[in-house]
Amino acid sequence: MPTGQEIKEEVRKRYGEAAKKAQASESGGCCGDESLEESAISSTLYATDELQHLPPEAVVASLGCGNPVAVAALSEGESVLDLGSGGGIDVLLSARRVGPRGKAYGLDMTDEMLDLARENARKAGVSNVQFLKGEMEAVPLPNDEVDVIISNCVVNLSPDKDAVLREAFRVLKPGGRLAIADILTHGVLPKAVEESMKAWTGCIAGALTEADYGSKLAAAGFENIEIESFREYTAEDAECGGLGDAAKEIAGKGSLGIFSGVVRATKPGGEAKAARDEALPVVAAGDDQPGRCC
Ligand SMILES: C[S@@+](CC[C@H](N)C(=O)[O-])C[C@H]1O[C@@H](n2cnc3c(N)ncnc32)[C@H](O)[C@@H]1O
Repeated sequence: MPTGQEIKEEVRKRYGEAAKKAQASESGGCCGDESLEESAISSTLYATDELQHLPPEAVVASLGCGNPVAVAALSEGESVLDLGSGGGIDVLLSARRVGPRGKAYGLDMTDEMLDLARENARKAGVSNVQFLKGEMEAVPLPNDEVDVIISNCVVNLSPDKDAVLREAFRVLKPGGRLAIADILTHGVLPKAVEESMKAWTGCIAGALTEADYGSKLAAAGFENIEIESFREYTAEDAECGGLGDAAKEIAGKGSLGIFSGVVRATKPGGEAKAARDEALPVVAAGDDQPGRCC
């Protein structure tokens, strides 16, 4: 097994390259390009009217597996933190929702992604955003700072998810809420997938089971924990995702037991406001939709 540090370095390298590709505005279908689109996960996640205010580079750079902003129920004046903000798509969407009295932070550990996100914010003309360099296992913000934590297909990449969830809890205000899109599993993954570094950086091998995710959230102090699947993945998705030998091992299996889900929870205290579905995209297993993925 790779060490936590090796995983982080590989993740950083991969997303540094992805940022450079997005800056060059390269695009393509999930199976049509070997690097940026090599992940197993791909779907169209945002409504067209949400995207029309964004610079095309921010949309091209989207590498998520869900739409956390659509389920975070953001209100004007709130503060939001996006863990692993990438090219900034969810930060820019959040900034619009919370308005000039609110604030949207993006946190990312990859310099190239931060450069891309800052450039996208400049192009979008938004001033209520701030992109921070750092790791989600040690968030560079004080305690009780934000109303909402969002994240899109990033927590699964962390070798220390307990630390990530503890940090999310720490920086949330009492009564604050968490709305995360992530890759999860219904059970244990095939060993070859688990051991594949490429699979890890493609969001699969680091995925927790629903039960483990729930236990870790509860251990961090969260309550009102809800986990909902909105897309189940198939062996074809894995092949498309370039998992190499790991894909061969799982070939022929209809459903992989891997899914995109929405994870919601609240920090006790204050006046808790539940995250709710606004437009949770429901995608059937095997749907071949164009889009970016982890
Ligand atoms: C799959 S991309 C998702 C980007 C963005 N959330 C989106 O939906 O387009 C993962 C991002 O998380 C960042 N990342 C991965 N692990 C991280 C960590 N431990 N701390 C901070 N950022 C991290 C990567 O640099 C990359 O930009």
